[in-house]
Amino acid sequence: MAEKISLVTGASGFIASHVVQQLLEKGEQVHATVRRTGNKKKIGHLLEMQERWPGKLTLFEADLLVAGSFEASMKGCSVVYHIASPFLIENRIRNGEKEVVEPALKGTQNVLDAVQKIQTVNLVILTSSVAAIYGDNADVQDMRNKTLSADYFNTTSSIYHNSYSYSKTVAEKEAWKLYEAQSGSPRWKLVTINPGLVLGPSLSQTSESGSLSLLDQLLSGQLSLGVPDLWFGIVDVREVATAHIRAAETPDSHGRYILAGNKTHGFVELARILRSITRSSNIPTKKIPNILVRMSGPFLGFSQRWLKRNLGIPFDIDNHPSVNELKIVYRPLNETLADHYQSWKSIKSQSS
Ligand SMILES: NC(=O)c1ccc[n+]([C@@H]2O[C@H](COP(=O)([O-])OP(=O)(O)OC[C@H]3O[C@@H](n4cnc5c(N)ncnc54)[C@H](OP(=O)(O)O)[C@@H]3O)[C@@H](O)[C@H]2O)c1
Repeated sequence: MAEKISLVTGASGFIASHVVQQLLEKGEQVHATVRRTGNKKKIGHLLEMQERWPGKLTLFEADLLVAGSFEASMKGCSVVYHIASPFLIENRIRNGEKEVVEPALKGTQNVLDAVQKIQTVNLVILTSSVAAIYGDNADVQDMRNKTLSADYFNTTSSIYHNSYSYSKTVAEKEAWKLYEAQSGSPRWKLVTINPGLVLGPSLSQTSESGSLSLLDQLLSGQLSLGVPDLWFGIVDVREVATAHIRAAETPDSHGRYILAGNKTHGFVELARILRSITRSSNIPTKKIPNILVRMSGPFLGFSQRWLKRNLGIPFDIDNHPSVNELKIVYRPLNETLADHYQSWKSIKSQSS
């Protein structure tokens, strides 16, 4: 029987590099796509993995925006982990259509077009997000028991309001549409992993993930006056990677899996934990009053609508399917943040 090969897209990234590493640790044969194999800085961690696991990891070039780009890397694969897609923090996005929606949607179409052609593929694990389930925190108040659940799709985001969330929503919906369009009994199964804010150690030195830039703002003292009253569902990157692989290995896995602890955490709680870990007085321990955040919103790139629907709104999260079916054990937030900090410090010291 031919050896099982898995494809991971976007392997230079924060989440995908952990998926690649965990697959290699399990002894699997991995194909991984990056935008440019010549960019040694971006793929340094993957080159190290090639040395550590000789003959097990093959790198290919592919671009989400280029039709046919993923076909060569997919040849002979049975599982496709489609992870590549830009994750940018909302107030840093200038052109939502170009920066996030196009790559998310066209990328999903291109990857799934290749899946349609390459007959060996029988399973696609798509990295979606909780952003495909809700846009603003206020949306969750309309859900059953005011609890975030995978039964819902985000209906409030658009290119103009939460464009990243919109990108994840349209990309995931497109994937389900293409899955359902298979004639007869489907050759390939689709499972989505929908993580909250992913934190923890980065194997990549250059990822531009919004997760890393958000915590960089805290750790580098850019928010030393205080943090807004924002709330996030949080998950460790190592659990997210494990969930991808368990979703592939579990015969009965199906549908969408939220990956996050069962309650949101306040930004100020993250700051306080990081302050106690780092002992740095640059890290704030206070919230900025909502009225002040609203007054400064336009200068920070947040609309009044966004602030009204997100400031001061915690919620509960139904993560049971990830616990019961994928057997995910969520590690304590302190451990995730301590490891995130160590990795941030090491990347900073190497880049300075
Ligand atoms: N981090 C989170 O909190 C979080 C939460 C939920 C879901 N997710 C999802 O997880 C996935 C990975 O995110 P991440 O946090 O790991 O971010 P990341 O480190 O920025 O990874 C994004 C990956 O997408 C690739 N990419 C972007 N545009 C591309 C293009 N045009 N062609 C080919 N590759 C392209 C990037 O390649 P380059 O290195 O070449 O730019 C990178 O490998 C995304 O689908 C994201 O939506 C993330």
